[in-house]
Amino acid sequence: MALSARFVFLSLLLVLSVSISLAEIRSTEIRSDARPIIPFDEFGFTHTGRLELNVSGISLSNPNLDLSQVGFFLCTRDSWMRVLQQLEEGEVKCALRSDLVKPVYTFDKLKNAKGFSTVFSENDADQYTLVFANCFQNQLQVSMDVNSAMYNLDGKSGRRDYLSAGKTILPRVYFLFSLVYFALAGLWISVLYKKRLTVFRIHFFMLAVLLLKTVNLLCEAEDKSYIKRTGSAHGWDVLFYIFSFLKGITLFTLIVLIGTGWSFLKPYLQDKEKKVLMIVIPLQVVANIAQVVIDESGPFAQDWVTWKQVFLLVDVVCCCAVLFPIVWSIKNLREAARTDGKAAVNLMKLTLFRQYYIVVICYIYFTRVVVYALETITSYRYLWTSVVAAELATLAFYVFTGYKFKPEAHNPYFVIDDDEEEAAAEALKLEDEFEL
Ligand SMILES: *[C@@H]1O[C@H](CO)[C@@H](O)[C@H](O)[C@H]1NC(C)=O
Repeated sequence: MALSARFVFLSLLLVLSVSISLAEIRSTEIRSDARPIIPFDEFGFTHTGRLELNVSGISLSNPNLDLSQVGFFLCTRDSWMRVLQQLEEGEVKCALRSDLVKPVYTFDKLKNAKGFSTVFSENDADQYTLVFANCFQNQLQVSMDVNSAMYNLDGKSGRRDYLSAGKTILPRVYFLFSLVYFALAGLWISVLYKKRLTVFRIHFFMLAVLLLKTVNLLCEAEDKSYIKRTGSAHGWDVLFYIFSFLKGITLFTLIVLIGTGWSFLKPYLQDKEKKVLMIVIPLQVVANIAQVVIDESGPFAQDWVTWKQVFLLVDVVCCCAVLFPIVWSIKNLREAARTDGKAAVNLMKLTLFRQYYIVVICYIYFTRVVVYALETITSYRYLWTSVVAAELATLAFYVFTGYKFKPEAHNPYFVIDDDEEEAAAEALKLEDEFEL
């Protein structure tokens, strides 16, 4: 375990040292870049959207070209598809010339200046991407420092809201969920206190997971609300990442521990079960690092796709790995039910573990696949719904786990009379026949 502890520590350092970008206010350095299209950031505007664009240190490798074909524009996803079509069919020569895009600044206005700063008002509510177009492939290389901020003005107060239209209520959503988890933690503490004679170590571990989840949501609410007001997170994102990391590791560990029946069925872990933990914990570290890079760099950064793939791969491996201990437990319990006399006892445990197995699969499937699908199909205005769906599924999973594995004053495993015992043995026999 010493090795993996060191690994965890090193990775934490890495997570902390990843430079924290300024969230919705972005700074990007472009150096000798000849790409025809450079996408910057995506944002959902309301009817009172603003784009602030400050560009400095502009240097062009060939300033004698027609610079009205070099510049920034805003474009929705749908119209981008149509612009691509226009370009392909030769209808327009340059994306900046298409009437489907909204030019923000073209470089002919520079008149040899090294930079400019402009504010663009966007009054058609939609999701836009800020794009830089350079219509002189291979003839012109551009270097510049781009600072951009996109925000909506609040209808009445006129205050800036740096969260995209579909995400602006997220701080409240996270805060509400953190209250729910806080209440759950209180409930769990009272259960632990009432049933203190039958409390196992794993129940305290569950409490830790609950508390970490509460703090994590609180940090996320604070993080998002700072971004909403100021456009940057002011360090709350660091706290949020630390708690996400701790929560991720403890949650996966908890699933493995419950799956193995640790402290419920047996006080120790077998070697192969320890190995699962040794795989899952470092992978969670990698997943969290990937998540930080993905969040902080935005979908158009170089390597973003690579990190996204790393994250998906690691996540899938973790999710599969945590299922193994549950399967082993189910197998052991089935064998035990057949060999020792207590068929009913083992059968009840078996049912519990099977339910748990199915619920873990549903939880993983929902939070990975269904939520991702929701995110893709919902309009930018309702992006928060996929967050709510994921949080509700997580909440249901926590509640199920707590309810099914709560400390019991009368352990039902041990109060079974002989009739039930026989019925269970019978059921088990039947089950075996069906399986053959
Ligand atoms: C752009 O420049 C103006 C004036 O210097 C400044 O007030 C504003 O904050 C800058 N915006 C960004 C996004 O850097």
